[in-house]
Amino acid sequence: MRVSVFRKEHFNAAHRLWNSKWSDEKNVEVFGKCCNPNYHGHNYDLVVQVTGEIDPETGYVIDMKILSKIIREQILRRFDHKNLNADTEEFRQLNPTAENIVVVIYNILRPLLDDRLELKIKLYETERNYAEYPA
Ligand code: NI
Repeated sequence: MRVSVFRKEHFNAAHRLWNSKWSDEKNVEVFGKCCNPNYHGHNYDLVVQVTGEIDPETGYVIDMKILSKIIREQILRRFDHKNLNADTEEFRQLNPTAENIVVVIYNILRPLLDDRLELKIKLYETERNYAEYPA
């Protein structure tokens, strides 16, 4: 019996979309307001999905206290109230799009969970725009 459990979290962060290999003009053409030099913020909603068998002894797929602690310590502490481009190692070179952020979050959390558990990350950048990984 495989079941998915979900932990929803929230963080605020600033970013600027930018490709340093391109000219200023090309960046403005592709990213528009999203590449404004003084950054802009988002209220990100993060949904971490863990799928696996129900442990017959606990009745849990994963103990949500443990999952929420891992997310808090590994993701929120790292990204909440940060400027992603300027304050984080992960996005110093990598464009902080929702697509890249979900992959980064997945890669941070994956090794911390039991191999038998499946992981999926969903990140809402706005109410209407979100990214999911793995697709
Ligand atoms: Ni943005």
